[in-house]
Amino acid sequence: MNNEDIPNLTAFDEASLGEAFATVERQARNAAAALGTPEAVEAFRLEWLGRKQGRLNEVSSRWLKAAPVESKKPLGLRFNALKAVVEGLLDEALGSGPSDAALAAEAIDITLPGTRRLTGAEHPITKTLNEITRVFAALGYSVGVGPEVETDFYNFESMNFPPGHPARDTQDTLVVANQERRSQRDRLLLRTHTSPVQMRTMESQPPPVRIVIPGKVHRNDAQDATHSPIFHQVEGLCVDTNITFSDLKGTLDHAMKALFGSAVKTRFFPSFFPFTEPSADVQISCIFCGGKGCRKCKNSGWIELLGCGMVDPAVFAFAQEKQPAYDPKKISGFAFGMGVERIAMMKYGVSEIGQFYAGDMRFLGQFA
Ligand code: PHE
Repeated sequence: MNNEDIPNLTAFDEASLGEAFATVERQARNAAAALGTPEAVEAFRLEWLGRKQGRLNEVSSRWLKAAPVESKKPLGLRFNALKAVVEGLLDEALGSGPSDAALAAEAIDITLPGTRRLTGAEHPITKTLNEITRVFAALGYSVGVGPEVETDFYNFESMNFPPGHPARDTQDTLVVANQERRSQRDRLLLRTHTSPVQMRTMESQPPPVRIVIPGKVHRNDAQDATHSPIFHQVEGLCVDTNITFSDLKGTLDHAMKALFGSAVKTRFFPSFFPFTEPSADVQISCIFCGGKGCRKCKNSGWIELLGCGMVDPAVFAFAQEKQPAYDPKKISGFAFGMGVERIAMMKYGVSEIGQFYAGDMRFLGQFA
């Protein structure tokens, strides 16, 4: 303990006493103001009020003893006042949590600019996915989802890709390991398309059905500028009496105009999918050159955007196992599936699919 800074008292007139006591009181107040922890408060108590070596004890023994008789009374009065002050400081430190000094150090300066919190915004893929979904919702379609980890049955077999059929090679599949114990149809895989949700929907409700299914799909494809092993699709399914290919054409033509602007034209090219017959690829007139021909459309004026077709009777046959009303003699339907990344890349002029997943705020911030 350091008591050297207690002033020496040589004169005992009122002014000298006043000055000496004021000095010690200031020391006590400064020390008390700096107290932050319970340990520091206890140290303060010992240092100032300790019976043997406390500073007040020292003041009393140095000053009171040296004082001439006539000064003992005023000195004693001042000493008691000082002691009360120090005890008060201690009480305050014990009872009132952090000291003023500690508070001052932490205090919020309300004149400083605040911490900026960025407002979140929809990711461009989510945004595009929602936009596509809304176009069909406005036509009366409901919205459904299905599992990303799917069985071989829903992803392939019920979609008319029989086991061992070469059509399965068109969708290089990521399968879950150690499934040998299970029958082929129960083996798990990461769904390669959203089409299995067509079957899940039909099994769960009789016709009529109008539904869109947005979701994530996986394929064992190497990443390049336009491919990613994880991407998104929006599936569509419409089943009712007398649904024709004209309904399919009209619906998709409307959807493409809603997504890309009313000047866009569509055309349907013969294609193949196991679960639709006939099947078609839908092309839209190039949104970059208006159909004149440019680099983006490889000078053809057209860009291929999605797959579609009339639901194959073989698919209805699988649905009939749970819902007999899917009788291909009485009902018909169409289905379509589109890649969300591809549409987002077209809409926003993005040339690298990887940008969507890199998490670079300079890229993502542009869509906020
Ligand atoms: N599931 C197909 C694919 O991923 C797309 C599609 C869906 C085609 C529905 C026709 C009907 O390639």
